[in-house]
Amino acid sequence: MRGFTFALPTVAIVAALAVSGCSIKDDNPDLIAGKQVFVQKCGSCHILERAGTKGVTGPNLDEAFHRARVDGLGEDAIRGVVKKQIEYPSRAGVAGNGLMPANLVDSEGASDIAAYVSKVAGAGGKDSGLLATAVKAAGSDKPAIAEGGVLKIPADPTGQLLFVNSKAEAPAGQIKIEMDNESGVPHNIAIEGVGKGAVIEKGISEFSADLKAGTYEYICEVTGHLAAGMKGTLTVK
Ligand code: HEC
Repeated sequence: MRGFTFALPTVAIVAALAVSGCSIKDDNPDLIAGKQVFVQKCGSCHILERAGTKGVTGPNLDEAFHRARVDGLGEDAIRGVVKKQIEYPSRAGVAGNGLMPANLVDSEGASDIAAYVSKVAGAGGKDSGLLATAVKAAGSDKPAIAEGGVLKIPADPTGQLLFVNSKAEAPAGQIKIEMDNESGVPHNIAIEGVGKGAVIEKGISEFSADLKAGTYEYICEVTGHLAAGMKGTLTVK
């Protein structure tokens, strides 16, 4: 994962359209599944406001497609662009630079995602009805509390760039800090100057430390994740 500044999304889209032929007729895309899979597989790299995602490795899809809409592209055309981008993320000369992984989802997943993104990207407003509740609200108001010398602070299981707990409490002394990550999105947990776990896509990232009383910030060190809000406050007393 590297930091990345994306130049000229509009040009990329227009170029992509030229090769996509832009007529995709998938009969029954499932928008709810599309939103859920988008959050899990795409949101760690892309901002899409209506899906609540905050990734910054790739271009902001609201900005990209708002411009596309202003330029006169309809929903079907946008859907074609998104589907092509998922299926061929690094086709030479068209948007691709190898930073967006291939084979993130199967073709049905791609159709569902493309249908959802084409409806909401750059369109403003909010998701309503069943779409509004398609993705479980991330996070918990409750602090994570250390038990038996272990403090567990899981990563959001739906793939959003958050820890489940934005607060945690532990007694001073030796402690093991564990982040369980079921999401498939790479994360770790780290406290600057104290310790850090390995970056993992599934499983547990952990480290041990001898903590003195005070407050500490725990973060995910993967590029862009802290900026998206993947952090919390640990109080040790
Ligand atoms: C690991 C990060 C990463 C993931 C995950 C990812 N993308 Fe991307 N995406 C990028 C980058 C980087 C670019 C720009 C360069 C390129 O095309 O490779 C991009 C470009 C795009 C574009 C073109 C936008 C434009 O302005 O031209 C679309 C559309 C897109 N991604 C949709 C998706 C969808 C849908 C998913 C999930 C199936 C996804 N991305 C997953 C990193 C990612």
